[in-house]
Amino acid sequence: MWILGIDTSCDDTGVGLVQDGRVVVNRVASQTLLHQVYGGVVPELASREHVQVIDGLVEAVLAEAGLVPAKLDRVAATRGPGLIGALLVGFTYAKGLAFALEKPFVPVHHLEGHIYAALAEHPEVTPPFLALVASGGHTHLFEVPCWGQYRQLGATLDDAAGEAFDKVARLLGLGYPGGPAIEELARQGEAPRVPLALPLQGQEGFNFSFSGLKTAVARALEQGYAPADIAARFQQVVVEHLAQVVVRAARYTGLSTLLVTGGVAQNAALRARLQEAGLRLLFPPKGLATDNGAMIALAAWHIQKAPPEALLVPAAAYLPLEDPSTSAGRPAR
Ligand code: KG4
Ligand code: ZN
Repeated sequence: MWILGIDTSCDDTGVGLVQDGRVVVNRVASQTLLHQVYGGVVPELASREHVQVIDGLVEAVLAEAGLVPAKLDRVAATRGPGLIGALLVGFTYAKGLAFALEKPFVPVHHLEGHIYAALAEHPEVTPPFLALVASGGHTHLFEVPCWGQYRQLGATLDDAAGEAFDKVARLLGLGYPGGPAIEELARQGEAPRVPLALPLQGQEGFNFSFSGLKTAVARALEQGYAPADIAARFQQVVVEHLAQVVVRAARYTGLSTLLVTGGVAQNAALRARLQEAGLRLLFPPKGLATDNGAMIALAAWHIQKAPPEALLVPAAAYLPLEDPSTSAGRPAR
C-alpha cells in the first residue's frame, strides 16, 4: 500500500511517501530563510510559499520513487492543529489529488503524525506507552492506553519547549532554529556558573512551563553571565524539567515505554538524561523528528479505513488529540 502524506501545518512544506508502513521518500521544503528576517513565522507568507512549492514537491517525491500518481492507494494530509491558512494549502491540495485519483483521502492529526514518527522503526511496539511531543509549537505528555486513544496527562502552561529554545537563542544572538544552535553553544559552557531555577518546583502534576526561564535568561544576560554558560544552564534546566515530569508520569501510570518526538527529541542532552531514567525509549529516526510529510503518511497507514465523507472534514487550527474522530488505529495491513 502506497500512501502520500502532506504536512503544511506551519512554515515547512513536507511531502512523504510510505509503502506498507516504511518510509520511501521524505522531502521538506524549508521556509526558514523567508521568515528569518521577521524573527518569527509570518502566517500569510507561509501560506503563499506552500502554494508556490507544493505541486513541484509532490511531483519530485513521486518521481524519486518512480511512482505514477495512479499507483497511490491513499492520500493523507494534516488536518490540524496549526496555522489555518498554511494547513488549508496542503489539506485542500491532498483532497483534490485524492478526488481526482478516486482514492481515499485520510485527514491526520499533526500530533498523531509526530507519535507515529517515533514508532517508524519499531513496528513491534504496542501500547500502552507514554508519548512526549516536544516541538516548536507543542509540549504535550500523553498516556496511550491502546491504539487510537490518547489521554493528555500534561502540557505546557505557556511556551512550547522548542519555542523556548528559539526565544532564548534570539536573546543570545543565535540563529533560527534555536535548538541546534543552543545545543552547540552549550558544549562550550559551564552550566553551574549560572543560577537558573527549575520551573514548577514543588508542583506534583505533569505540566510544563518555560516562559519564566526565558525571562530569567534575559536577566542573566543583563547581569553579564557568558552566553555559552547561559546556554549550557538553560539547556540543562529544560532537559531536567522535561525528564522529571516524564519520570513522575511513568511512576504514576506504571508505564515503562516512552516515545519522545517533535524537534526537541533531537537534543542529545535530553536523550542522554532520559537514558538514565531506566525507561524503554523510542525516538524518531533522522529526518522524522521535525515536521515532515512521511509522519503523516505513517499515521494514515495506521488508520484502518479512511473516514466516510473524509473530503468534507474541515481543517482546524485548534484540534485536541483526545477527540476520537481524529485518531488513527491499528495498521491497515
Ligand atoms: O517539530 P518541529 O518542526 O516543530 C513544530 O512542529 O512546531 O520542531 C522545531 C522545533 C524548533 O523550536 C527547534 O528549535 C527545536 O524543534 N529543535 C531543537 C533541536 N532541534 C530542533 N530543540 C532542542 N535541541 C535540538 N537539537
Ligand atoms: Zn510539529
